[in-house]
Amino acid sequence: MAPFSNSCIVSLVIILMVLKLQMFIIRAAPQVPCYFIFGDSLVDNGNNNNLITQAKVNYPPYGVDFVNQTATGRFCNGENTADIIGRYLGFANYTPPYATARGPEILQGVNYGSGGSGIRDESGQNLGDRFSFNEQLLNHGITVFQIGVLQGNASFTKEYLSKCIYTVGMGSNDYINNYYMPQKYLTSRTYTPEQYADVLIKQYTKQLRILYNQGGRKVAVFGLGLIGCAPEIVIKFGADASGCVDSVNAAVALFNDRLKPLVDDFNSNLPAAKFIYINITNINSGDPTLAGFSVFTPCCIASVDIGKGQCEPNLPPCTNRRVYIFWDNFHPTEAVNNITATRSYMAASPMDSYPMDIRSLAQR
Ligand SMILES: *[C@@H]1O[C@H](CO)[C@@H](O)[C@H](O)[C@H]1NC(C)=O
Ligand SMILES: *[C@@H]1O[C@H](CO)[C@@H](O)[C@H](O)[C@H]1NC(C)=O
Ligand SMILES: *[C@@H]1O[C@H](CO)[C@@H](O)[C@H](O)[C@H]1NC(C)=O
Ligand SMILES: *[C@@H]1O[C@H](CO)[C@@H](O)[C@H](O)[C@H]1NC(C)=O
Repeated sequence: MAPFSNSCIVSLVIILMVLKLQMFIIRAAPQVPCYFIFGDSLVDNGNNNNLITQAKVNYPPYGVDFVNQTATGRFCNGENTADIIGRYLGFANYTPPYATARGPEILQGVNYGSGGSGIRDESGQNLGDRFSFNEQLLNHGITVFQIGVLQGNASFTKEYLSKCIYTVGMGSNDYINNYYMPQKYLTSRTYTPEQYADVLIKQYTKQLRILYNQGGRKVAVFGLGLIGCAPEIVIKFGADASGCVDSVNAAVALFNDRLKPLVDDFNSNLPAAKFIYINITNINSGDPTLAGFSVFTPCCIASVDIGKGQCEPNLPPCTNRRVYIFWDNFHPTEAVNNITATRSYMAASPMDSYPMDIRSLAQR
């Protein structure tokens, strides 16, 4: 006699199917093997926590809407853009910060983001230590080496890395904590806004070429937001009729305008390169009240320490955080990050991304 009766086998099969279905619902496989994140405070998820710098926020009220209400070092009340993109890509866990990532967890990708960092090494120096984009690339070189050791097959690793998504968002601090801080930096006396955009793009191009040489193929380059509308910049320079500092937005637009040609250049000149440009200006444009935002002052009690613009520790933030654009004097709320991440992943307008969105990039 067979060890199991037929009905036993049938119910076992059903149980296995249900289990499999549940696993599928709980944890759909990620669309790509790994996700690497480069950037500044907009994506930092704790890399600055042990640095000597003013640009760290591992204290309440930061994280008030994060898992377990923990202040992880994210410059936000909840998730940042990279966290949300990671979820869209199907990852069950947050991408680990480089500062603490150990062992096989690096196979799913690493977040190198560091508050205060820039394309130029000196940017953000006024705040203290940070991992500049050059240092983030050096750290990535170490990760790539470690992945090679873990996988033990160079051609496999090369193929693996070519399938991953890389997002890069650098440049805000080259303006906020460099060009627009003339008492601490020479750049605004050395370069016109046009020349500065050119100088930044030239260095950025070299740096992104390093990322390509390290094996990155599917790279989303994020443009800069409307920095001239950040409360701290408005306090510092005074608002124009638009409610923002128009000259700052105009200077930043010169940088953004050069990113589409940069992406075109990479895609036509580097074999298998699939670079895309995320147009934050377009994503942020339009009437914010239509998206449910009605308050333009920061949600938390921002520091009076000029240039810092972060929340004062341990003071209660606003309660209806969904209607605020700004969390502190520089950084958007989770609600805004959610829109940015959602439209970067799935373009809501043809101008949100060029030549495709992150979802299409993942499938390429
Ligand atoms: C949240 O708290 C629970 C219970 O203490 C813990 O198991 C879990 O790991 C925490 N999650 C995070 C992301 O810290
Ligand atoms: C190394 O990886 C390549 C590409 O995935 C594969 O074809 C090859 O069989 C692997 N070599 C060994 C020794 O496992
Ligand atoms: C980005 O969006 C802005 C605002 O809609 C638009 O003026 C600009 O042409 C867009 N750039 C690209 C490369 O699509
Ligand atoms: C984020 O946006 C998506 C899509 O619009 C929405 O379904 C979701 O509820 C939002 N989540 C948060 C936390 O705002």
